[in-house]
Amino acid sequence: MATNSMNLEDIPSESLMSELLRRMKCASKPDKRLILIVAGPPGSGKGTQSPIIKDEYCLCHLATGDMLRAAVAAKTPLGIKAKEAMDKGELVSDDLVVGIIDEAMKKPSCKKGFILDGFPRTVGQAQKLDDMLGKQGVKIDKVLDFAIDDAVLEERITGRWIHPASGRTYHTKFAPPKVPGLDDVTGEPLVQRKDDTAAVLKSRLDAFHKQTQPVIDYYSEKGIVAKLHAEKPQKEVTDEVKKGPPKKLRNSMDFYSCFEYTFGFIVMPLLFLAQISAVVCSSIGDDYDT
Ligand code: AP5
Repeated sequence: MATNSMNLEDIPSESLMSELLRRMKCASKPDKRLILIVAGPPGSGKGTQSPIIKDEYCLCHLATGDMLRAAVAAKTPLGIKAKEAMDKGELVSDDLVVGIIDEAMKKPSCKKGFILDGFPRTVGQAQKLDDMLGKQGVKIDKVLDFAIDDAVLEERITGRWIHPASGRTYHTKFAPPKVPGLDDVTGEPLVQRKDDTAAVLKSRLDAFHKQTQPVIDYYSEKGIVAKLHAEKPQKEVTDEVKKGPPKKLRNSMDFYSCFEYTFGFIVMPLLFLAQISAVVCSSIGDDYDT
């Protein structure tokens, strides 16, 4: 029987250690489940900024576009249904995306909350999301609106290059890789998305203005939208993004960050030393016994 389980022995020690440290760091974060939506037109920077917010608040990053592209590549029934609309720059049906998001939200990595990137994209999806969250007794904390002029987007979209395995994104002009065409970390080749052409961008923008802008208006009426100046350089957008989440949570983060550093830099080395002492002393004990 095929299984999805991964053999831990095959994972490099550095990856295991960094995952362990990440989990320890996240264990000290508040248990309040933070739910953020990043909304904006194609190329506005949602996928660039989401990993930064994800790391800062220990959230999971749920990007419907990435999930759908993975399904298309794997030729799953979902991927086969979604492919035609995606190639044309149109939206796939609400039922398909609502199903994948409902499932994805249950992942253990989403325990502290999640960032919804590319979802909801229609008012129908937004209403379904409200129902799903209502059943779990939670609600959306903030919608980060990546506001930007359409004229800037063609250059961003046509210059984008992606490392498919990690999702790392580059731009020939704004965020070039160290070696053209290769991922900075793995040295593997970068690729361009099939829908990242000027012609398909027109349909994607059309879908954004007709179907997704009303979603931002829907959340504005609820008073939870934070508008960002997404045309600014990446670093400046990151600074604005960090001010987006609710103030109460940001303040509590200061205490937790302090705790995390104290724990990481003082307690962890002591534990490590204690472990080494235990190993050394037990081997001396063995010698003594024999
Ligand atoms: P999806 O994958 O969600 O694409 P999108 O919304 O069109 O967004 P992008 O990923 O293109 O843009 P981004 O804002 O993430 O830009 P990025 O940060 O990479 O959706 C694809 C398709 O899937 C849809 O068309 C639809 O068919 C389907 N789909 C998905 N979700 C759906 C849903 N809920 N319902 C129905 N259908 C759905 O930035 C772009 C480039 O600019 C990068 O190269 C980056 O380096 C650069 N850059 C970023 N920020 C800056 C900056 N501040 N200054 C200069 N350059 C920058």
